[in-house]
Amino acid sequence: MPARINPSILAADFVNMERDLGKIASADLVHVDVMDNHFVPNLTFGPQMVGRIQDVSAIPLDVHLMITDPERWAPGYAELGAYSVTFHAEAATDPVGLARRLRSMGARAGIALKPGTPADDYLDLLEEFDQVLVMTVEPGFGGQSFMPETMPKLRQLRSAATARGLDLWLQVDGGITEETIVTAARAGADTFVAGSSVFRADDPARQISLLRETADL
Ligand code: DX5
Ligand code: ZN
Repeated sequence: MPARINPSILAADFVNMERDLGKIASADLVHVDVMDNHFVPNLTFGPQMVGRIQDVSAIPLDVHLMITDPERWAPGYAELGAYSVTFHAEAATDPVGLARRLRSMGARAGIALKPGTPADDYLDLLEEFDQVLVMTVEPGFGGQSFMPETMPKLRQLRSAATARGLDLWLQVDGGITEETIVTAARAGADTFVAGSSVFRADDPARQISLLRETADL
């Protein structure tokens, strides 16, 4: 299975979203960052906008919820057809219950860990999730630098998933470029979110191919 490349539309032009979606037609999934100005100090959009993106996108959506109270809001994104819905471990009161609910609605369930959140509490629960998102920057903004100190956590998750024979996607998000993607791939990531490196490239489609090929080396 080649590396999955999920461009983050946080780096797209919000008033030309449909045009910018056209630039990433070769992506595996479209990464959609929902921020509430509470869990993170930044605000993007909510279900109404994500619903319209879902309507016009030919590619399935990978929704990353950087919000408080995901129990209240996450099921709504599954209902509007998101392919995967990822909520933050730090914000959830019942991560397993929420993941089960998302799966029962037909979405892939993901759990995200901020750079300072250890994976230890979740290692015995990995069967409950389809993907784990290891944040490689502090969530909230695009264009930050990759934090290599998060790699031991990724390795820990990969070995736990391999030991139990799980088909768990391990996603990294933040500061992914053609350089840092090598580090993350070697540590066990198979799904890569890239905002600025795709949308700031002269040719986003070429950048997606370059990232995919580099991660597979
Ligand atoms: C950050 C978001 C990321 C962001 C990544 O909080 O979750 O998805 O868009 O942007 P880059 O690739 O520019 O670091
Ligand atoms: Zn994200």
